[in-house]
Amino acid sequence: MKDPHFSEAILRWYAENGRDLPWRRTRDPYAIWLSEIILQQTRIVQGTAYWERFMSRFPNVESLAEASEDEVLRLWEGLGYYSRARNLHAAAKQIVTAGSFPHTIAGIRALKGVGDYTAAAIGSIAFGLHAAVLDGNVYRVLSRYYGIATPIGTAAAKKEFSSLAEQLLPEGKSADFNQGMMDFGAIQCTPASPGCETCPLAASCQARLSGRIPLLPVRKEQKPATVRYFTYYYFRCNGMTAFRKRPAGDIWQGLWEPYLLEFSNQKETEDLPAWIRDHSPILLRKGVRHQLTHRTLLTDFYLVDSSARPSLPDGYEWIKEEDLDRLGKPRLVEILLECLAEKR
Ligand code: ADE
Repeated sequence: MKDPHFSEAILRWYAENGRDLPWRRTRDPYAIWLSEIILQQTRIVQGTAYWERFMSRFPNVESLAEASEDEVLRLWEGLGYYSRARNLHAAAKQIVTAGSFPHTIAGIRALKGVGDYTAAAIGSIAFGLHAAVLDGNVYRVLSRYYGIATPIGTAAAKKEFSSLAEQLLPEGKSADFNQGMMDFGAIQCTPASPGCETCPLAASCQARLSGRIPLLPVRKEQKPATVRYFTYYYFRCNGMTAFRKRPAGDIWQGLWEPYLLEFSNQKETEDLPAWIRDHSPILLRKGVRHQLTHRTLLTDFYLVDSSARPSLPDGYEWIKEEDLDRLGKPRLVEILLECLAEKR
């Protein structure tokens, strides 16, 4: 369904209210790609600071491709979803090998870490390609304006909303329309308290006309987050500490952490390996709650001080404490290090 009234209202709204963001002042596909990867799970204010940091350390795709993965992860620290950083680094190598940034939707989509949304965003913003973005903001705006109650998170919704968004996309104006939808959803048609009084589309908004603003969009029922019980032992021995780089196949691949025991419930903590138990661990903090998207981590932190270095389980190695700064670590491990610093 073409709907020039809707599309023109979004373009006009964007011209008047669009945010002045640093990556909107360039057509450099590298800079735009970097912004889209950072913004995949990150708010604008925090994302902008990281984008600037990355652009200043890695001003072009070659410098990013040449960096070590550890350095990229270190710079990413605090943003979470670290697979984004690993994919970013891998995609930089893909681009350098190919010789130039891909400039078709299929080519952009083939980069590691780029899904449908990100390919449409980069393609439209950097190259003016005709592809509509579909994310939480777009679902919300369309579901309210057109009064669509198909539950978000289902294949049926993806099909229905992406087809609608494609039809609404005005010829030759995909960059402004897509960014207009992003900003309109973020500023005007917000989840909890949308600005309907000042909304240029209020008079024809189906949700508003039928009093269903608080009911739309409808979401598919979500599974509750699973809980994992972690206990970290910070083993200190004459300025050295035992850390490992987390392996593939679980959260935080490639990030560094102290000795970890994981329990399937809260009461199992008596089963300590002798090499820890014999050194009388000191509790630093109990029950630290750390929320990831699909998991809650409940974590205890211990310090183990020793003058002799025990041999370590597979995967762990001795690291100088002064070198910890240079390693990429999950936020939870940074919290442990903060507890440790308070203890001194
Ligand atoms: N969220 C994701 N990409 C964005 C962009 N280019 N502008 C504003 N918000 C965004």
